[in-house]
Amino acid sequence: MTAVMYRVLSRQSRALVILVLLAAVAAGCQPTVPLRGAVTSQGAGLAQAPPPWPLAPVDPKPSAARGRRVYEQACWPCHGQEGFGDGPAAATLVAPHKNPLTDFFRIFGVTVKGEDLPSRPANFHNQVAQRLNSPFSLFETIKLGRPHTAMPAFGPKAAYGANRGFPTLTDDQIWDVLFYVKTWSTTPAQVARGRDLYRNRALDIGGGRQATCAACHGPDGSGRGGALSGEMAARLWGWAQGEGPGIFTDVNLMLQRKPSELYQAIWIGRGHMPAYQGKLTEDEVWALVDYLWTFLYEYEPGRGQ
Ligand code: HEC
Ligand code: HEC
Repeated sequence: MTAVMYRVLSRQSRALVILVLLAAVAAGCQPTVPLRGAVTSQGAGLAQAPPPWPLAPVDPKPSAARGRRVYEQACWPCHGQEGFGDGPAAATLVAPHKNPLTDFFRIFGVTVKGEDLPSRPANFHNQVAQRLNSPFSLFETIKLGRPHTAMPAFGPKAAYGANRGFPTLTDDQIWDVLFYVKTWSTTPAQVARGRDLYRNRALDIGGGRQATCAACHGPDGSGRGGALSGEMAARLWGWAQGEGPGIFTDVNLMLQRKPSELYQAIWIGRGHMPAYQGKLTEDEVWALVDYLWTFLYEYEPGRGQ
């Protein structure tokens, strides 16, 4: 069949077909990602700059002390002065609910509501719940609100169904307040304990060697400056670039991690990092996790006082 077609085609059209095929091959070989940026940053050596689009501010970092002021202005009536979810408005909060006709009538722009349901504000001292939240998911909840609950949106635009009519906070204020809220699932003593373990507790890392966390991760969490940091950077492309798992100053990665994921990495090990199960107690690992977040925000012991 192809042979027949080939014969039927004139010499000119054959040349044209070949040209089109060559063009298609050339187009197919083009990279689909712009490589120019990547090449430049490699060429610039191993500079450690925050990503050009950090999700949260890096300089200055979010601050729990500033967040406290936002909280006392916007959150306490529902979540309570001390974050236990027991503010004066908490008992009577309701969320609008649907009934079977709601979606049908929405087509005609008519709002039909079902009976309102009680909605209880989160208790920020509930460690189990807080350890399953990444900072970024908390950010989304505060900015967009949570549909079908009484948690309102504090950004300019509410998620589908979330309440409106509350003051608008800037993104920076939202980061401040969520890190303030995060301080309720730990204590200054716990963070100090994590810091001490991170810097001073040398543990068996296999191969007859002992090392602190800071020996690999660096005293400032950047993967630089520790006795073994260079060794890790020589093995891992990400570490050489100052980004990726294990670089606690990689904001965009860390903000999407849950405390429980960091716990798991420490407990069962990860890549070139040894497992610490049996070498640290569970409490010590949680203390370490609580401390690791402080590379991302200004932690103020004693609620910013
Ligand atoms: C009108 C009452 C109300 C106000 C004001 C309010 N919240 Fe909430 N918030 C709620 C309710 C209700 C929930 C629980 C939603 C649910 O059931 O999932 C909630 C949930 C949350 C959650 C999710 C917690 C989790 O574990 O999933 C965060 C984070 C949060 N609020 C932060 C804030 C912050 C920060 C402010 C102040 C800027 C604030 N809220 C103001 C009612 C409120
Ligand atoms: C021998 C060097 C080394 C030591 C010692 C070490 N780590 Fe790591 N750690 C790494 C490397 C390398 C990674 C990245 C692993 C990978 O490739 O995903 C990592 C990853 C992690 C992660 C996962 C981060 C993420 O985003 O997934 C956590 C959390 C962590 N380390 C905490 C600790 C703590 C806490 C200690 C001390 C108890 C410690 N590490 C000791 C080398 C080390």
